[in-house]
Amino acid sequence: MEHWLPIVNTALIAVSGISVLVGYIAVRRHRIGLHHKLMLTGTVFAALFLVVYVLRYFLLGTKLYTGEGWVRAVYFTILISHTVLAIALGPLVLVTLVRAMRRQFVRHRAIARITLPIWLYVAVTGWIIYAMLYGL
Ligand code: HEM
Repeated sequence: MEHWLPIVNTALIAVSGISVLVGYIAVRRHRIGLHHKLMLTGTVFAALFLVVYVLRYFLLGTKLYTGEGWVRAVYFTILISHTVLAIALGPLVLVTLVRAMRRQFVRHRAIARITLPIWLYVAVTGWIIYAMLYGL
């Protein structure tokens, strides 16, 4: 299980990230129907990622970072900013979606412009943390 769980996790977050990115391109090109589908797909895959991530945490525990010196400072700066913003992302995504569902698109757009960069930051730093932790 310790072999395939990280692969499943990585695949889920990759699909989520790609959906959100393409969904953003879609809305910039006024393809609202496609934007709608892709953003919901991105949210569902991010939620699945979270389920597998929590499962993995309880079943396999966490891996401690062993790097020393300045890379250690860089690692923890990234880890702390990633964690704080990941926690903030939950309510932000919820409000972004609720405003879209209520067809309050001006308000949706206002908060979505905060939600989207945070979402991408959390996704990219997640990859960096994974790479640093497993020495890739
Ligand atoms: C959490 C999921 C979502 C995120 C992160 C998101 C993100 C965004 C972003 C960043 C924009 C602004 C694009 C720009 O800069 O011009 C936008 C606009 C828009 N989104 Fe979403 N979106 C999400 C879900 C949805 C859903 C489910 C719908 C349903 C139809 C939707 C409908 C729209 C529409 C109509 C606009 C254009 C608003 C306008 O320009 O007045 N979005 N979205």
